[in-house]
Amino acid sequence: MANNQSYKVKFFSGEEIPLELHKVRIVQKLNLIPIEDRLKAIIEGGFNTFLLTTKTVFLDMLTDSGTNAMSDNQVSSMLRADDAYAGSQSYMRLEEAIQEVFNCKYFLPVHQGRAAENIISKVFIKPGDVVPMNYHFTTTKAHIEINGGSILEIYTDEALKVKSSHPFKGNLDIAKLKEVIKKYGAGKVAYIRLEASTNLIGGQPFSIANMREVRKVAKKHGLMIVLDASLIGENAYFIKQREPEFKNKSIKQILHEMIGLVDLTYFSSRKVSSTRGGGICTNNLEIHNKMKDLVPLFEGFYTYGGMSIREVEAMAIGLVETLDETIISQSPLFIRFMVSELERLGVPVVTPAGGLGVHIDAGQFLAHVPQTEYPAGALASAFFLISGVRGMERGTISSVRDANGNDVLADIELLRLAMPRRVFTLSQVKYAIDRLHWLYKNRKLVGGLKFYEEPPVLRFFGGKLKPTSPWPEKLVAKFRADFRDSL
Ligand code: F0G
Repeated sequence: MANNQSYKVKFFSGEEIPLELHKVRIVQKLNLIPIEDRLKAIIEGGFNTFLLTTKTVFLDMLTDSGTNAMSDNQVSSMLRADDAYAGSQSYMRLEEAIQEVFNCKYFLPVHQGRAAENIISKVFIKPGDVVPMNYHFTTTKAHIEINGGSILEIYTDEALKVKSSHPFKGNLDIAKLKEVIKKYGAGKVAYIRLEASTNLIGGQPFSIANMREVRKVAKKHGLMIVLDASLIGENAYFIKQREPEFKNKSIKQILHEMIGLVDLTYFSSRKVSSTRGGGICTNNLEIHNKMKDLVPLFEGFYTYGGMSIREVEAMAIGLVETLDETIISQSPLFIRFMVSELERLGVPVVTPAGGLGVHIDAGQFLAHVPQTEYPAGALASAFFLISGVRGMERGTISSVRDANGNDVLADIELLRLAMPRRVFTLSQVKYAIDRLHWLYKNRKLVGGLKFYEEPPVLRFFGGKLKPTSPWPEKLVAKFRADFRDSL
């Protein structure tokens, strides 16, 4: 395959199915326990899928964070790790990878994405500042707010439409950006943040044309652009697929173009390079120097930043593998398969298919459950109960309460079913589709949830809930009636 050509395998039957271009050489046994045992597990876990143990989970679609499969080259690189507190050769290899993949001269390693957010927010946000962005991510918002700033989401009208054929729902609305700058004054804008494959709106990408527009506005007002590149590989893949100008460009050329349009790039390596860790990179020495001293303070010495040296090695290889289209397209192609099957079956799902995972519209799926009873959380629990598949609530439970103690209702109620890279087989994906289809047909049996333990910060991680009626037991009974002795 020439480097700048998209690969495609056509089946004689005409069927469009994503062919795995890898083989599985290390495997982990999975458990599919009976539904009655799953009922006990979800009750013990406070109807919060974060609180389940993997012993009870069949397919773990909670997240792609730290769960992508590693390549043979990544695993073997860990053996040559040059363990040294300072000046490790492994770190030099990572710097070279950063230069090759992101075309950035200056790099700071951190232990994961939110650690980068901590450093960036501490350095660049003053109390009263605003940060316009295409959409927030939970940890990003928390770090900006803890430093006295606030976020402004200036997505386009298309972004929150569940059904759409817009190729770039992650674009920033340029007219709204100009309004924000006019309203607050450039002095109050800490920076403009762009999130690649925008997580909370369904893994939706932005285009380079949009980035160029943002750049123009930023330049005019002397503003810095910060790129969250945690899912940049997938965004680059979508640009190649959907933005005609880049059809014949290599992923490397596309990445360099993207990074060249921003001032500072940070990422969670738990996603982008299928390892752990994270980093911040830039070509601007002044920007780099402002953040540099915080690395040894919060993370570790400059040449490991809180990561094990083994991770540093695997990260260097994983970043370079991001340039391989067969690797970065694997999850989007499986997602596209699942989304089109669900659409065919009438299950409400976010379109077009994005990166990261499949996003089910819980608001529509459970239209009879009021938003104050957390439809996305209820759907996540119900789906685990009837399938053993663990997804993540991305709706009002992931939101906060206002000053009066009322829930700030989420813009959209989503159940996210993450598709970690090269982890699942197509028959496992088909199982997930089948069980979702059954649940959709029986959706009226699912009811709401209410909190009985609610942490004040990031409540979705540790909060515990209970059903507002005995709906889980009814669902178990219907499952047994329909599936008899099937697991
Ligand atoms: N930015 C984005 C876009 C993310 O998706 C994440 C993490 C972070 C920053 C924070 O990185 O976890 O390494 O500290 N997303 C994970 C997820 C948690 O499940 O989507 P981190």
